[in-house]
Amino acid sequence: MKVGFVGAGKVGCSLGKLFSDTQHNLTGFYSRSISSAQDAADFCKSKRFQNLETLVEESDTVFITVPDDSISEVWDSVKHMSIAGKMICHCSGSLSSNIFKDIEETGAFGFSIHPLLAVSDRYRSYQELPKALFTIEGDADHTPEIKALLEGSDLKYTVIDADVKTRYHGAAVMCSNLVVGLIRAAQDELLACGFSKEQLGDAIAPLLLGNVKKVLSVGTEAALTGPIERGDIGTVEKHLKVFEGIDRQVYKTLSLKTLEVAKAKHPEADYSQLELLLTNQED
Ligand SMILES: NC(=O)c1ccc[n+]([C@@H]2O[C@H](COP(=O)([O-])OP(=O)(O)OC[C@H]3O[C@@H](n4cnc5c(N)ncnc54)[C@H](OP(=O)(O)O)[C@@H]3O)[C@@H](O)[C@H]2O)c1
Repeated sequence: MKVGFVGAGKVGCSLGKLFSDTQHNLTGFYSRSISSAQDAADFCKSKRFQNLETLVEESDTVFITVPDDSISEVWDSVKHMSIAGKMICHCSGSLSSNIFKDIEETGAFGFSIHPLLAVSDRYRSYQELPKALFTIEGDADHTPEIKALLEGSDLKYTVIDADVKTRYHGAAVMCSNLVVGLIRAAQDELLACGFSKEQLGDAIAPLLLGNVKKVLSVGTEAALTGPIERGDIGTVEKHLKVFEGIDRQVYKTLSLKTLEVAKAKHPEADYSQLELLLTNQED
């Protein structure tokens, strides 16, 4: 399989480097700017293409690794080329292969192939990619070829349906970007308690890292501790009295979700009063 990349950014460079190092199957890069394509080609010991047509012609699998908003624009050019039998892939988490409109008429096969990883560096992130789970979504008959491509670089994958892509991406946002929002809420409340900015890391890190480690090793139910699990209504009531605005909403909503975990862990316990407090709409 000969793989070419349109878009020599973080994901293009990282996947390209991995394919090149492990499978020697990289044709090269075409990008909006010549310099990006040249840098990526040098980094991955491959070719810089002057135009999209030649890259597509010389590759039998084309990864369109441009920003999400530009994928259909690139596809609009690619679909008029001679692409029968080729695999056309993008790496967006939120978009499915349906973005490749009318692909059936071209004889090509469409996929979205998404690494569950923040790819932050053009030249270093490729080392992290083998830790990530990739999702493959697209043409069922030709999925085995995509699986073989990922297996060839020791990448882990699972196959998902196009109609769950939005939900899947939302879930990924919950355990990545939204954690940032949650940490900011805790930081703001600690600052309101008089902590200095410099102390925030020391205050938060052991709690946060310890919890993440525990949840990942033993699961949500076994890892759960704290006032929600204990059914400690007095404490939760006091927290709700001091928090205001968005931080209060965050606390309340996540407490309700945490209550689901507590109920599953202790089916015999009566959490009804706590649930009443947390579902009270009066504020
Ligand atoms: N970064 C992540 O954490 C991450 C994780 C998973 C999936 N993804 C997905 O991976 C894809 C690429 O994201 P990225 O983070 O690699 O973006 P990026 O670093 O911004 O790179 C995008 C590249 O595409 C080039 N480009 C833009 N428009 C183009 C066009 N019309 N034709 C040709 N090249 C064009 C850019 O231009 P220049 O030539 O000017 O450099 C740039 O090199 C997106 O679909 C994204 O959702 C990203």
